[in-house]
Order: sequence, then C-alpha cells, then structure tokens
Amino acid sequence: MYLTKEEEKILEGEQGNAAAKSMKILVALGEIYGAKNLIPVSSVQIAGVSYDNLGDAGLEYLAELAKDGQVKVLTTLNPAGMDMLEWKKLGISDEFADKQKKVVEAFAKMGVITTCTCTPYLIGNLPAFGEHVAWAESSAVTFVNSVIGARSNREGGPSAIAAAIIGKTPAYGLHLDENRVPKFHVKVEAKIESLADWGALGYIIGKKSEGRVPYISGLQKTSIDNLKSFGASAITYGSQSLYHIKGVTPEAHLYQPPSDSITVTENDLKDAYKALNDEAEDVDFVSLGCPHASLSEIAEIAEYLKNKKVKNGIELWVATSRPAKNIADQRGYTKIIEGAGGKMAVDTCMVVAPIKGRFKTMATTSAKACFYARGKNKMQIHIGDFKQCLNAAVSGKWT
Ligand code: F3S
Repeated sequence: MYLTKEEEKILEGEQGNAAAKSMKILVALGEIYGAKNLIPVSSVQIAGVSYDNLGDAGLEYLAELAKDGQVKVLTTLNPAGMDMLEWKKLGISDEFADKQKKVVEAFAKMGVITTCTCTPYLIGNLPAFGEHVAWAESSAVTFVNSVIGARSNREGGPSAIAAAIIGKTPAYGLHLDENRVPKFHVKVEAKIESLADWGALGYIIGKKSEGRVPYISGLQKTSIDNLKSFGASAITYGSQSLYHIKGVTPEAHLYQPPSDSITVTENDLKDAYKALNDEAEDVDFVSLGCPHASLSEIAEIAEYLKNKKVKNGIELWVATSRPAKNIADQRGYTKIIEGAGGKMAVDTCMVVAPIKGRFKTMATTSAKACFYARGKNKMQIHIGDFKQCLNAAVSGKWT
C-alpha cells in the first residue's frame, strides 16, 4: 500500500508509540484487503467498550495506547457494560464498575467523546452523504452506509481506534464505488408494519444474502427507527453492512434491480417469527431499545406504561443514550417508565451488560437482540412490537 512521507514517518514512530502502533494496524489491514492508499475519515465510532467483552487484556491494551495516543477526528463510543452513573440499579457489581470506569477513562484520555451509545447518528455524530468514516458497531455502520449514504467498512475495535488516532483508514471495501453495487434483488410482498416486522425482514434478508448487498423493492418510506432496527437485524444475520431500498435510501436510484432475485411473502414473514420466537410462556426480562431507543420510541413506551405496573419479579430495561435520557427526564417520560417499575438502561444494553444467567426468557422488539440473547446469554426469546413486549412486562406472559 502506498504511504506518503508523513505516513511513513508515523510508522517509524515520529508521532509516538500509539500512532506507530495504529499506523501498523491500518497498513496491515490495507495490505490484506488490497487498498491502494489511506484516505481521511471525518469521524470514528469505537465498539468493544464493555469490560465484559474486553477483560483485563483489553483494558491493559487501552491503557497502554492512552499513554500517548490522541484521536485526530470526532470519535464516539459504543455502549459500555453498565449505566455509567447508576450501574447499581441494573444489578452491576462495584467490582465490574471499577474496571468499566477505567476502560471509559482510557478512551476519554485519548480524546474520545464517551457517548456510550450505538446510535451516535442520533446524538451528534452524523456524517454527510458520501463522507468517509471508520465506524465499528455493525448496526451503526449499516445505518450510515445505507440510510445516510456515508461510507464505512465494518471496523473492529482496534482498527477503529487506529483510524481515530491517525484520522485515516485504508481505501477498500465499502469506501469504493464498485463494492456498493447491489448483488441481489429482494421483492417484498409481505406487509411490513411494526418495528418487529422490520427486524424480522432483516432476519430473512440477512439469512439469504450470503454477504451480498441487497437491493430491496416493495417497501414504503418509513421511520428512522424502523430502518435502524432493520439494518441491525440484516447485518446480524448475514448481510453486508449496506442495503439499498428503492424509493427510500439515497443511493438506490443509482442502480437497476439485479437479476438474481428472491421474493419475501407473508409466509416467509410468519416463518421468520416462528424461528425467532421460542416456546416459553413466562417472561422475566423485557429489553427494549436495540439499537438504542430514540426519543420517539421512549415516548411510545411511556405512553403505553401510563397507569400500568411492571409485574413483580420482572425487569423491564429501556436501553438508550444519555442525551435521549436527559430529554426523556425533561419531558416526564422517565418518571412514567420508572414509576411503572421499568428501568432506563443508559449507556449500555442487554447484550453488552454482564447479565448472563440472571434471566430465563426475554421479550424484545429487536431481532438483533434475539440473536445475542440466545447465543451469548443463553436465554429463550420472544420478539414482538412494543405493545406485545410491554404487555409481557405487565403480565409476565407472552401472548
Ligand atoms: Fe446497540 Fe446493544 Fe443492540 S449495542 S445495537 S443495543 S446489541
């Protein structure tokens, strides 16, 4: 890969150890993927923040990097393993909290804005169409590529930090026009209405995509909330971190529908729900906000919970970002949700928090959350719309 003189000097250590280490990572990645050069990025989203995933080895790596590492561009952070202010209310131990705080402090020392959310685009890290960025967090990468038309590969934790410290990324993959071309056509005949329907559609398309970029037709214009859930699901189950929806996403008009095609029928949707739902009737955990809940989703949850009570012994988490929670406080939504017995799970979520073994059956609106609840946390799952999930929180039963 071609390096400028300045880049070579960074590699040789002229800007310190962290920069040299970061440049080494970017060069190695570029060479693996055949990049010709590095390109500047305007922002970075870092994932791999939870101490539950990082462990002591990850913490040590970050502390070492933070000795002389400084980010060069706007850099935000994925959810941590706990609410950074009120971890106790989510049942997180002080021991875990101490380690988690050290992780976040290391990022802060490097100049990272410690946002702790997987929806950075809702709270100020919002690239423009065509901008190159280096984001980790599969749902966020899929969102910026598809809904915004910015360009990012799906970075890993170390490569995202490296891109932030250098302010550049190797030019390969979804940064290049040729890799943004859709490779198969999905004709949607099924009626896609609720948030859970969008997640189930993502499940179907992800499973069929074999890593290809889908071109999707048959869908109406829809909300940001539905698109963020759809993308999170599609990439979790196997799609590329880019999709085009005819008449909805900004690059779809550049392409003709590919000849290789599949149709998604009502029966396919039913089958997806069947595959995503387990049989357990009793629910002991309801987790909403995957990806992190927007203000309008929090408002919807609060509206439903007015004059209701979450059943004793059941936990309801609404995972969201700190800025969304702050506005929810001002609008009175938090008071309603907490008054009903729910918990605002700020800065974190059910996947990255250390909750393995605490719950048996989870209800959620998110197909991505289903995947990790089963795989990582060994729970039974149910997926449905907000009303179904909140009914389960109130009654303890899935109906
Ligand atoms: Fe975000 Fe956690 Fe879901 S990081 S996308 S809420 S699994």
